[in-house]
Amino acid sequence: MPDNGIPPFARYRRLRSSAGLRRLVGETRVGVDDFIYPLFITAGENIRAEIPPMPGCYHLSVDRLGEELDEIEALGIPGVLLFGLPAEKDAVGSDAYADNGIIQQAVREAKRSHPDLLVITDVCLCEYTDHGHCGIVLEDGTIDNDATLELLAREAVSHARAGADLVAPSSMMDGQIAALRSGLDGAGFLNTPIMAYAAKYSSALFGPFRVAADSAPEFGDRRSYQMDPGNGREALLEVRSDIDQGADIVMVKPALAYLDVIREARRITDLPVAAYNVSGEYAMVKAAAGNEWLDGARVAMEVLGSIKRAGADIIITYHAKEAARWLA
Ligand code: PBG
Ligand code: ZN
Repeated sequence: MPDNGIPPFARYRRLRSSAGLRRLVGETRVGVDDFIYPLFITAGENIRAEIPPMPGCYHLSVDRLGEELDEIEALGIPGVLLFGLPAEKDAVGSDAYADNGIIQQAVREAKRSHPDLLVITDVCLCEYTDHGHCGIVLEDGTIDNDATLELLAREAVSHARAGADLVAPSSMMDGQIAALRSGLDGAGFLNTPIMAYAAKYSSALFGPFRVAADSAPEFGDRRSYQMDPGNGREALLEVRSDIDQGADIVMVKPALAYLDVIREARRITDLPVAAYNVSGEYAMVKAAAGNEWLDGARVAMEVLGSIKRAGADIIITYHAKEAARWLA
């Protein structure tokens, strides 16, 4: 490069000048291997109903799960994350740890029909409690951390017994990873990994999910257990604590508004880092694309690429099926 004080205008543009060069120097590639696709399993029969705030995503009854998994497997997506809508909810979330609960049935059906597809289960109480909180509610309205841990461990063990390949605790109770690890080990599931929702924020971006899972809290909010969106350092305390307790994969959630947190999690651990591109992130793209305000496919791929670039190895995303098609 001439050192004559003249700005070398082609210094960086040279490598952008053809599709071949851009491909050669591309730093970040999103691939179908990175994706996990969330599914909502509902009690009942012959149900495949689109979820209004999440176009392209469906409530599925167990008898309609197989056809969905056929499609997911054919697209090359490695795994699914299951959420359950039980027939009955109660104060202690009994369906969550019932051997014939909605998720236990779904896991058995998924592993029977698609043994090679990874089945991950969300381990929390909010989909199963009538009050919608992620733990046991005491008389004064506060959440009993340790009583909840016991139920979460039971839930994880019952998922593992049904055949779950991984369990993903999302309640944000302190000590949930240690509780699950000792529960799983005690029941003989020494090889069932834990994907920890480590840094999970109290986010308005979960709005569409709470409609889909019918899990909005009846009173109050989740701020006494989910994190304050402004807190970055605290996320690293959570990540380190979950690793110390035995997490195998650490997750940051949501993803797009928390890319700095994903990057920091990546920096402090060599464990796999997962990011959850949540329902509200998906709904925003779909709504704008539906109005033809932006190009939905390009925006979705840009978002997924940014999550990867920030440091995520695994992306849980409602875009997984369509993105797999765009990438094929
Ligand atoms: C359950 C759970 C939630 C999500 C994943 N697991 C909802 C919540 O905490 O309120 C949100 C996922 C999404 O918005 O896509 N604790
Ligand atoms: Zn919950």
